[in-house]
Amino acid sequence: MTVKIFDTPEVQDFLEAVSGLDQQGGNERAKRIVHRLVADLFKLIDDFDVTEEEYWSAVNLLNALGSQTQFGLLSPGLGFDHFLDMRQDAIDAEARRSGGTPRTIEGPLYVAGAPEAEGFARMDDGQDQNGEAMWLTGQVRDVDGNPVAGAKVEIWHANSKGGYSFFDKTQSEYNLRRTIYTDSEGRYTARSIIPSGYGVPEGAPTDVVLKSLGRHGERPAHIHYFVSAPGHQHLTTQINLAGDPYTFDDFAFATREELVVPANRIEAADEIAKREMDGPFCEVVFDVALSTTDATELQVRHKRPRAKEDEQDQASQQAGTAKV
Ligand code: DHB
Ligand code: FE
Repeated sequence: MTVKIFDTPEVQDFLEAVSGLDQQGGNERAKRIVHRLVADLFKLIDDFDVTEEEYWSAVNLLNALGSQTQFGLLSPGLGFDHFLDMRQDAIDAEARRSGGTPRTIEGPLYVAGAPEAEGFARMDDGQDQNGEAMWLTGQVRDVDGNPVAGAKVEIWHANSKGGYSFFDKTQSEYNLRRTIYTDSEGRYTARSIIPSGYGVPEGAPTDVVLKSLGRHGERPAHIHYFVSAPGHQHLTTQINLAGDPYTFDDFAFATREELVVPANRIEAADEIAKREMDGPFCEVVFDVALSTTDATELQVRHKRPRAKEDEQDQASQQAGTAKV
């Protein structure tokens, strides 16, 4: 087919009407963005001769993604989360903020309001029969190497089946989710279990999209972090455990070389006793370096609707206003 109508005056005028650019009310930025988005898609339909069947099956797929709340899963799979990270890295580089632990994607599975502890927390509820004991520890420092006492370290990860509490209703509330404040030496420690990798559910709409691209939906075993402290830039990151088949083949593109950490098996009786573990365990050490900043907006995580985020946050997000 050779029909190309995108550049005709009728289509260009039509795009103005579709995006409300010929109307007084509404939001100017929304109009500009919708104009660009719809124009790009119209052009794509023209250029690729998208058929009616293809178009309506795409609408159907979008409905399936939405009804199963899977856009938050598809987003990292299609690289949007990592692209936003690349932009933030470039913004930091331009402002000469460098040297801290690299950021990487948050993912869709954070839940606010996890139990808080000082220095040490046990994160698992002891119910995971296949859970291999993990001792997770590290020190938070500034980029000059000074320990940061009282830093807020939020950690969340999957169980031995790759499931996250809250989303996986078989797990207890806040299982494998804790907030730990660093001690006077900037150290945090958690006793938990080694997580398994995560896979996009087989047959789910996200899986359908990935399969059509010849891709898989697997993530390596990983542990999520938010780290913050007054006077320092908020850090969203994750560690990927070394040796997982997907460590360097992550469908969500979250792996960064500096964030690959080994889990070392420890069997010595004195080490087991010192940590009051029940037997051999794996030790994972992750030290964090935070950039210094006076800018208060850089000291908090960006706003985003999150499960159980406090009500004031949700209300101000919906109203499009900042929390005061
Ligand atoms: C997804 C799951 C994760 O655990 C994660 O960290 C990132 C993305 C996902 O399902 O898309
Ligand atoms: Fe995750």
